[in-house]
Amino acid sequence: MNVFLGITGASGAPYAARLLESLAAAGCEIGVCASRAGIEVLATELYDDPTLPRDEVLARLLERAEGHVELFDPQDWSAPYASGSAKVDAYVVCPCSMGTLGTVASGAMQNLIHRAASVALKEERRLVLMPRETPLSAIHLRNMLTLREAGATILFLAPGFYHGARTLDDLVDFVVARALDQLGLEQELAPRWGQE
Ligand SMILES: Cc1cc2nc3c(=O)[nH]c(=O)nc-3n(C[C@H](O)[C@H](O)[C@H](O)COP(=O)(O)O)c2cc1C
Repeated sequence: MNVFLGITGASGAPYAARLLESLAAAGCEIGVCASRAGIEVLATELYDDPTLPRDEVLARLLERAEGHVELFDPQDWSAPYASGSAKVDAYVVCPCSMGTLGTVASGAMQNLIHRAASVALKEERRLVLMPRETPLSAIHLRNMLTLREAGATILFLAPGFYHGARTLDDLVDFVVARALDQLGLEQELAPRWGQE
């Protein structure tokens, strides 16, 4: 399965890292593109150093999926993910900032992440957006509805606690498990309701 993973500047870098590992473990080919703000959040939340250079942040992150990842620059319009003619099975943006959400909802495309999401919608392919913000303005809510109506899945970064979560990893796994379900990938990260 070929999956595009866009990483933008909303809080939630541990979700992106776990999702990347899980996609690699499932044998996916993954095209990764991180926005400038996405890099800052990864550096802050995973490596505790917002000033860490982009290349270093990406080298550390992509180690988790060695052999499965190709990295793309946000302005790389020659990337396969910039065109509907490329064979891509699914597109995920995790975490998805309200900035990216609003840009995609407006139909504007300022970087490869916006473009890939727009391609997914126009080609009627699976697009999973994983936003995080709180509280939400009427503009945020309208943008999410617009995207849902256009065919995207809105998978909010809001873990449940009903599966007996004890650690932060359990909460991260809960959300990533739901994302893998949406992509049709087998996962055993979190127990299913009603499962022993
Ligand atoms: C540490 C950090 C945390 C942030 N958290 C959020 C967030 O949770 N949700 C959000 O929509 N924006 C958040 N932002 C602001 C976005 O990064 C900002 O709007 C940026 O322009 C988004 O650009 P992008 O969509 O190209 O990544 C955060 C920024 C930083 C530096």
